[in-house]
Amino acid sequence: MLIDSHAHLDDGRFDKDRDKIIKSLKEDDVDIVINPGADFLSSVKSVNMSEKYDNIYAAVGIHPHEAKNMGEDTIGLLRDLSKKGKVVAIGEIGLDYHYDNSPRDIQKEKFREQIKLAKELNLPIIVHDREAHKDTYDIISSEYDGKLTGVIHSFSSSTEMAKKYIDMGFYISFSGPITFKNAKQPKEVAKEISLDHILIETDSPYLTPEPHRGKRNEPLNVRYIAGKIAELKGISFEKVMKKTAENTKKLFKINEK
Ligand code: NI
Repeated sequence: MLIDSHAHLDDGRFDKDRDKIIKSLKEDDVDIVINPGADFLSSVKSVNMSEKYDNIYAAVGIHPHEAKNMGEDTIGLLRDLSKKGKVVAIGEIGLDYHYDNSPRDIQKEKFREQIKLAKELNLPIIVHDREAHKDTYDIISSEYDGKLTGVIHSFSSSTEMAKKYIDMGFYISFSGPITFKNAKQPKEVAKEISLDHILIETDSPYLTPEPHRGKRNEPLNVRYIAGKIAELKGISFEKVMKKTAENTKKLFKINEK
């Protein structure tokens, strides 16, 4: 069975068929979905879903786009929320210098605050890094205490950077772009790093992989990510499916919940 390590099923684009999608995951060979929060409300929705459905696990956190809207009480609210449902991580958190929806100094400050919360709660982090590779790494490595762990989701940086994260025990997650013809970098990284450090995800409803580009993304499409990694590494689909599921459960301590 496959695991989709990152999907936003709380998104409004799933309002009409969310229940149906989640209930049919098993038929689609998807065992588990990890659903990160994007803002506080979506973190609440994510936790609620993890209470309602056995196959949904939640992360709570504020995306860099929303960093500017974090108030003084947000960290406390996230802390309380993390004690509910099946919360397995703080995320998604990080830096986005592509859209710059929040000022960069605020993004950095809120990213660091949420990493500190993850350390306090002994939870892994789910990291969003878009065109902010150096600052993302600098913040994570400066907060690294030998225990902090997590995943860099929808990885878009270099092999060299991937190896630096792996040295800290972090995981590298691949999504739709690895299936795109023009995306050389994620393909190269996937070939170069060991399967022991790889997770797979859809980032639904975004980043729909080939051959369904242009449509809404869904967790069942995680098979195309596994298939592409198998092809790039010259190994079987089953091996990628099994190992990435194992890695995801290990990172998020899923068997212990
Ligand atoms: Ni996401």
